[in-house]
Amino acid sequence: MKLRWLAAAMAAAVVGLSGTLAFSDSDREGREKGERGWLAGLAAPTGVKPVDNPLYAAECSSCHFAYQPGLLPEASWRELMANLSDHFGENAELTPETQKLLTDYLIQNAAEQDGGWLARDVLRDADKRTEPVIRITETAFFIHEHDELPQRVWRDNPKVGSMSNCSACHTKADNASFDEHQVSIPGVGRWED
Ligand code: HEC
Ligand code: HEC
Repeated sequence: MKLRWLAAAMAAAVVGLSGTLAFSDSDREGREKGERGWLAGLAAPTGVKPVDNPLYAAECSSCHFAYQPGLLPEASWRELMANLSDHFGENAELTPETQKLLTDYLIQNAAEQDGGWLARDVLRDADKRTEPVIRITETAFFIHEHDELPQRVWRDNPKVGSMSNCSACHTKADNASFDEHQVSIPGVGRWED
């Protein structure tokens, strides 16, 4: 009985704290982050866990930015890693040993394990699908965040070329930070909507 009361009191304290944090943010974005979860916000203010595996960083960054594992759900990584010989028109095949190590790393750090708001948005998208998505750029959250960008600033911009090229615009993407205030589009500069 006492324990249950304690749990209830703690839950109330958490709700109270969460309210305080949400309202202490003055701008709209701060409130959005507050709604997405104060604990996630404190644990990972940037929204996703940084890459911390040197083998992954080496093997999966030769053609593009090393996408953080928390950007896709487990099922997506399994699907992607099982088809590396036909990887978006490229052959990205690895030795079976490396493939296994990297698949394990991706699964152990996939969106399900991340806990941040960005990963939660990714999982919300996955819930609505029957087949795993293998592009972050095809998730509903991604499209929602970027649908105002005209093609001239990305597709027709030789310094960007593709929306998959996260680090071209997100200056701190390598540190796993996708904050909209750190965006600078090459040849365009800061983006204000
Ligand atoms: C030989 C080059 C090459 C290597 C090596 C490579 N990729 Fe890719 N990858 C590509 C290309 C090309 C695309 C498509 C990019 C585009 O559409 O602009 C892509 C796209 C992706 C995407 C989808 C990005 C999006 O649009 O959301 C993911 C995820 C991805 N790669 C993960 C990996 C992982 C994990 C590894 C390491 C096991 C890896 N890649 C290694 C060439 C490569
Ligand atoms: C052409 C430049 C460009 C590319 C490429 C790009 N982004 Fe963005 N991204 C933006 C801009 C600009 C915004 C802010 C949009 C707004 O405020 O309306 C944004 C917003 C975001 C946000 C929301 C940030 C926040 O503070 O709420 C996330 C998360 C994000 N991008 C992730 C990614 C990921 C992951 C990739 C690669 C798969 C990527 N972006 C590729 C320009 C880009």
